[in-house]
Amino acid sequence: MHLLFIGDVVGSPGRDMVKEYLPKLKEKYRPQLTIINGENAAGGRGITEKIYRGFLENGAQAVTLGNHAWDNREIFEFIDEAKYLIRPANFPKDTPGKGIVFLKLNEIEVAVINLQGRTFMNPLDCPFQKADELVSLAQARTPFIFVDFHAEVTSEKQAMGWFLDGRVSAVVGTHTHVQTADNRILPGGTGYLTDVGMTGPYDGILGMEREAVIKKFLTSLPVRFEVPNDGRAQLSAVLFELDRKTGHTKKIERILINEDHPFYS
Ligand SMILES: [Fe+2]
Repeated sequence: MHLLFIGDVVGSPGRDMVKEYLPKLKEKYRPQLTIINGENAAGGRGITEKIYRGFLENGAQAVTLGNHAWDNREIFEFIDEAKYLIRPANFPKDTPGKGIVFLKLNEIEVAVINLQGRTFMNPLDCPFQKADELVSLAQARTPFIFVDFHAEVTSEKQAMGWFLDGRVSAVVGTHTHVQTADNRILPGGTGYLTDVGMTGPYDGILGMEREAVIKKFLTSLPVRFEVPNDGRAQLSAVLFELDRKTGHTKKIERILINEDHPFYS
């Protein structure tokens, strides 16, 4: 069973890359399940209903979020009805939305969990305790459990990988927007990648117009970051091959598509 995960889609350049390459990736790798992190999909901040539905129409089955989940206020109007939209599970109690979703794929059920880190980020409930709770819940139903851990620091992401090793199919990191080269299968069978990387502008800084970011570093003045509308773009993703019995990862492959790493069908 193949699972494809596309890293943080940033603005319209990122959405265009999904539209162009998701069909090609599906043809090449034949994933039964595709998940997209969409927390930066609306102009770099948050997500709208149209964009969420667009991802499902493009061929994704679930969309995860992160620290920008609430940045586009439209989310409060549709999150309750959005069955396949998952926000970090360790947000405070009574936050709208949900942090785990069970997807039915023929005879297989897959649990998709979204969590957010706490180091150099807003204070939240403990992602490790929340992971423990949700993984136990999921294990009662299925061995296929996927975790998107949206976090800033490598150590916290590595800790989550080792903490869940053997209990889940895969742990991927999102949020830092640069793909790391440490894809591996941990000894217990959990596929792991510290950060999947970003899908969006290739010549910006973390997907934002680079002039504004440089100005911010030079002057410390308040600057508004915008997603550039033109220029080159990239897509970052990761593919897992999961064992049909145990749900463990048998193979993990990084995917990076840009002008320096062209796509071959
Ligand atoms: Fe983020």
